[in-house]
Amino acid sequence: MTFRRTKIVATLGPASSSPERLEQLVLAGIDVARLNFSHGSADEHRARAHLVRELAAKHGRFVALLGDLQGPKIRIAKFVDKRIELAVGDHFRFSVTHPREAGTQEVVGIDYPDLVKDCNVGDELLLDDGRVVMQVLEKTADELHCKVLIGGPLSDHKGINRRGGGLTAPALTAKDKQDIKLAAELELDYLAVSFPRDAADMELARRLRDEAGGRAWLVAKIERAEAVADDAALDGLIRASDAVMVARGDLGVEIGDAELVGIQKKIILHARRYNKAVITATQMMESMIHSPMPTRAEVSDVANAVLDNTDAVMLSAESAAGEYPVEAVQAMARICLGAERQPTSTRSSHRLGQTFKRCDESIALAAMYTANHFPGVKAIISLTESGYTPLIMSRIRSSVPIFAFSPHRETQARAALFRGVYTVPFDPAAVAPEKLSQAAVDELLKRGVVEPGDWVILTKGDSYNTTGGTNGMKILHVGEPLI
Ligand code: G6P
Ligand code: MG
Repeated sequence: MTFRRTKIVATLGPASSSPERLEQLVLAGIDVARLNFSHGSADEHRARAHLVRELAAKHGRFVALLGDLQGPKIRIAKFVDKRIELAVGDHFRFSVTHPREAGTQEVVGIDYPDLVKDCNVGDELLLDDGRVVMQVLEKTADELHCKVLIGGPLSDHKGINRRGGGLTAPALTAKDKQDIKLAAELELDYLAVSFPRDAADMELARRLRDEAGGRAWLVAKIERAEAVADDAALDGLIRASDAVMVARGDLGVEIGDAELVGIQKKIILHARRYNKAVITATQMMESMIHSPMPTRAEVSDVANAVLDNTDAVMLSAESAAGEYPVEAVQAMARICLGAERQPTSTRSSHRLGQTFKRCDESIALAAMYTANHFPGVKAIISLTESGYTPLIMSRIRSSVPIFAFSPHRETQARAALFRGVYTVPFDPAAVAPEKLSQAAVDELLKRGVVEPGDWVILTKGDSYNTTGGTNGMKILHVGEPLI
C-alpha cells in the first residue's frame, strides 16, 4: 500500500465552495482546507468550515481547517476609474491625505500613516507582488514622489511592499483580532499569522487565541525580509510557532526572487530541526488557474519542495478561484507521489549526532531509527494525545507510514498536516491494557495496511491521556498473539 506522505493544503474560495466541488476536492485528497480571511465574509467561512467537516466525515477522511489571518498588508486605496496603466519613467505619488476613492494617473491614497516616515529617497516600492516597481525620488510631509521603473496596470487595493522589507505595521490588526474569535468559534485546527516580525508577534497571537478560547496551532508565515535576515531571527520566529509557512509571494517581493529558493530550503530545514511542521506556499501550480495541466516548471517546483522535505504543498488561487481546482489537487498528488519515490526521501541522518532533551522525543526517534533499519517494519503506531509524538517522528525521513492513534477530533485533524502521518480514531482507555497491542494492530489489519508476518512499532506511555508521557516502544509481529 502506498500512501502519499506530503500533504496538500487547498485554499477554498468561490471556485471550491459548492458541496459538489468540495466533495470532489475531499475525494481528490486534500488534507488541509485553508480559509483565507483576506477574502469572504464570516458567514461564508462558517459555511465552508461546516461543509468540509461534514464531507470529510462522510468519506472517512481527516481534513484539517486552517484559518489564514489577513494581517497588516499595506494597500493602496482606490482609483476613480478602478485602474490605471503606468509606463516606465512615469511620475507617481503615494499620499496619506489624498481622498481614498479618488486615485488618478498621478496620485493614489494609502491607508498607512507611517509610509513617509518608513521610506527613504532611493527606496524601491513593489506594487501588486512586484508587477509594478517604483523608486522614491522625493519625500514631503504626506507624500512620496516616485518614478516608475517597471510599468504595468495598477488597480484598486493592490498591496505595496518595500524591497528589503521594513514597512513596520503591527502584525495583528483589528480585523485579525475579530478573525481570531471566529477561528475559536469554528474550532479551527490551525491559525496562520501573516507578516509576523518576531517571536513577540506570535506570542501576542497566542495570547489572543487563548483569550478567545481557541486551541488552533499557530502557523508563522515567513514573509518579511526581517524574519530571514539571520538565523537568530528565523529560529526565534520558528520556535515561537507550532508550524511555519514559506509564504513565497510577499517574501519573494521583499528579498528578491533570486534569494527565494535558498531561503525556502533553509526555512524547511530549520522548521524540521525545531520539530515544527512546514507548508510551502504560493504559485505552485499558478498556470492551472486557467489550464488543466501544470507546466514542467511547476511540476519541478512541487517535486523540489517534496525533496526539500516540506510537510505540505499549498494551492492558493488555483483551488480558490481557478478553473481547474480538482485537477490541480490531482496533479499535485501525483507529483508528490513521484518525488517521494526518490531514494533521498526514504532515509535520514537527521539528528544522528545530537543528544535528546526529552523522554518522548527519545522514544519517537528510536522508533524511526528502528523503522528505517529493520526492513520488516511496515507501519508505526503512535498513541497520542495532542499529536506531538507523531510530529516528532515525522521530522525524520522515512518511507514507513506513521499512524497517529487518538480519540480526539482536534488531534485527528491536526495530524493531517504532518508529512507521512495518518490518523486512526482510537481510544486506548476503552480497551483492556492486555488487549491494547492487538486492538491497535487490528485497526491496521482491517485497513489492509499490514498483513501477518509484518512487523509494527507501537509507542505509548504508562498512563493514558498524558501528553508528553510517551516512554515505551514495542516491536510487534503481526499474526502472533500480541499482549
Ligand atoms: C496517548 C497515550 C499515552 C501517551 C500520550 C502521548 O494518550 O495513551 O500513553 O503518553 O498519548 O501524547 P502526546 O500528545 O505526547 O503525543
Ligand atoms: Mg502573504
